Amino acid sequence: GKELTHVSNLVEEIVGSEVSIRGRVHKNRLYAKKLFVILRESGFTAQCVVEETSMIKFVKQLSRESVVELIGLVSPPKKPLTGTTQKVEIHVRKIYCLSRSLLNLPLVVEDAARSEADIQKSVKDGKPAARVLQDTRLNNRVLDMRTPANQAIFRIQCHVQIAFREFLLSKEFLEIHTPKLMAGSSEGGSAVFRLDYKGQPACLAQSPQLHKQMAICGDMRRVFEVGPVFRAEDSFTHRHLCEFVGLDVEMEIRMHYSEIMDLVGELFPFIFTKIEERCPKELESVRKQYPFQSLKFLPQTLRLTFAQGIQMLKEAGEEVDPLGDLNTESERKLGQLVLEKYKTEFYMLHRYPSAVRPFYTMPCEDDSNYSNSFDVFIRGEEIMSGAQRIHDPELLEKRARECGIDVKTISTYIDAFRYGAPPHGGFGVGLERVVMLLCALNNIRKTSLFPRDSQRLAP
Ligand code: 4AD
Repeated sequence: GKELTHVSNLVEEIVGSEVSIRGRVHKNRLYAKKLFVILRESGFTAQCVVEETSMIKFVKQLSRESVVELIGLVSPPKKPLTGTTQKVEIHVRKIYCLSRSLLNLPLVVEDAARSEADIQKSVKDGKPAARVLQDTRLNNRVLDMRTPANQAIFRIQCHVQIAFREFLLSKEFLEIHTPKLMAGSSEGGSAVFRLDYKGQPACLAQSPQLHKQMAICGDMRRVFEVGPVFRAEDSFTHRHLCEFVGLDVEMEIRMHYSEIMDLVGELFPFIFTKIEERCPKELESVRKQYPFQSLKFLPQTLRLTFAQGIQMLKEAGEEVDPLGDLNTESERKLGQLVLEKYKTEFYMLHRYPSAVRPFYTMPCEDDSNYSNSFDVFIRGEEIMSGAQRIHDPELLEKRARECGIDVKTISTYIDAFRYGAPPHGGFGVGLERVVMLLCALNNIRKTSLFPRDSQRLAP
């Protein structure tokens, strides 16, 4: 047969040609003895007109979401089309059904694609449209995934990864893979999944932290990894998953640990710019369902000290413990204050109190109450934490003990520093969080294809 044309490529320029297309029956409507079928292919829709009586009969009995292939003539529409992404219509000559969908769908894609504004309007018009709840979406993810916004979100996610990789490769980083099965926990704390490794207690990696540092001990100089990260989070929040994709970096420090912040300050504006350049259609699709403003960021990434942040909060009437951590509320508030003062929604906070950072974090030379560490925020929410690491094995072991870690379980990590290690540091980013905040979405489950949280292990 003829090569298939993608629905997104049905444009005015090809009016008059015959095409073969494949898609799903989004919906259909009988009007003036013609059947208007909306065909959908990965979020793009086109109106297809069926006129012949027996063909109308055949198509009418096809349930929504059935996969069909058709041959038709690309034509200008009688009236300008508003309900479809494509502005031409197809006059159907032949149509085949490749795969039928069940008649009773647990989720109707048309409903799942509706924006809040459309729902509000439908209520006002006295014809309230269905609102699809998050659990219904996630329980039926293969259907929910078919909306234009979701198609776009995961393409944007892919492009964030591509840009991340592209930038680091251009800076002579090496992409590595570290084990996800470990004898001990990598970040400490309770949020670790424990399991039995052939009779030996084991953990799922809470980050590639220990092994990416060991790669530096092995003279890899500059490494990064894109891989799964496991956290046994108990709480059910808008931004915590039990499994997420970590974008991790570790590098040798040449002069000063601020080199890591310099890299971050360049990396993210690069990613943001690439997304704007490479995903304009995708951003538009997301916006249609979930309106948002483009992220405001400066070409020169803003860097404030933790103490400066505390001071800004204080001046705004919020008292925060100068040696404690910021909670979600304070982070949001500070994000607001920074936006007002510096006109950016992307910035870095550094020199965190040592007490709130993991055991491997390097204390500041001038005051060990503070550390050579930083967090990065998008729209007032944390997307990254990073630091210089302790490369002296004695100090590392001491800090691990002080933090209540059973050093036996990480002895091979500590030993790695006994054969000499250069000063180094790095950072870890949550991919789902970056995409969530880039598009100002309200829930991390929207940017995880099959989210795992404290209540969900399926589908
Ligand atoms: O702040 P975290 O725990 O830092 C680390 O894992 C360090 N090893 C990083 C480093 O190199 N120093 O996690 C890093 C990032 C967070 O900023 C956040 O974006 C994301 O990972 N993250 C989560 N994303 C989704 N669900 C969760 N439960 C997350 N926990 C952390």
